[in-house]
Amino acid sequence: MFVLAHLSDPHLSPFPPPRWSELVGKRATGFVNWRRNRHLVHRGEVLARVVTDLRASAPDHIAVTGDLVNISLVGEYAPARSWLESLGPPGDVSLVPGNHDAYVRGVARHFRSHWGDYMRGDDASNHASEVEFPYLRRRGPLALIGLSSAVPTAPFMATGRLGGEQITRLAGLLDGCRRERLFRVVLIHHPPVSSSRRHFKRLIDGASFRAVLERHGAELVIHGHDHVHSLIYLEGPQRPIPALGVPSASQVARAEHSSAGYSLYRIEGQAGAWRCEIVARELSRDGETMSETRRIAVG
Ligand SMILES: [Fe+2]
Ligand SMILES: [Fe+2]
Repeated sequence: MFVLAHLSDPHLSPFPPPRWSELVGKRATGFVNWRRNRHLVHRGEVLARVVTDLRASAPDHIAVTGDLVNISLVGEYAPARSWLESLGPPGDVSLVPGNHDAYVRGVARHFRSHWGDYMRGDDASNHASEVEFPYLRRRGPLALIGLSSAVPTAPFMATGRLGGEQITRLAGLLDGCRRERLFRVVLIHHPPVSSSRRHFKRLIDGASFRAVLERHGAELVIHGHDHVHSLIYLEGPQRPIPALGVPSASQVARAEHSSAGYSLYRIEGQAGAWRCEIVARELSRDGETMSETRRIAVG
């Protein structure tokens, strides 16, 4: 059995004081929003409890689906690197970026240089500029395929976009990994489908993404962004594809927020007869204890 842990949206805090020159445009509105509201929602002590529980689960590999930082201040990326290292070495942790990691134009170079080795495919060279999406990592029976939907957007928007080139390359990777008889896990920050209520934070080319999945197949799609445990099934060539979201790993349980948590995917079997059990773990609403809240089999 191979156990993959899935954690997302830590929105690490506290973050360093911004320089005045950084507080323009979208960063300015984001900073005000953080000071008014979000700093009460995303808490370091909550994240520490979730990570302690995850480490006690001793997974074989950890997937992190983005939004490590908040408003993409230059000073946010190095502490996030330290946090990644606290989870495990780059070979044991696979990361894809979220919209908050590319909050404004010109910051992708920061997450590439600070976090590059957590987002690098097996075949890429070790040079920081070699980060390319989608990347492919083979771990045990798994093919971990990492996508980037992180693009800067206008204030009050949180949409994502893959782009035609990434979607085309995804199709080829899915076919190759099917021929290798691997269990294909697609990592992406944005969910493949968003309700009309979440139109402002949808994956813009979600229809093209879903069309590739429908044609080429995958065993699992995992994402963050919506900050809730979720499970939907997408169309696949032979069988439906489960797509799973997890809550923010740092969020305080309040009326409108679910508790912080993460998921474990316990995978066994072989091509044509995979079994995948999902174990959801959440922090109690008083913030004191972690426990299993759901266990279901998919596939
Ligand atoms: Fe988020
Ligand atoms: Fe997000």
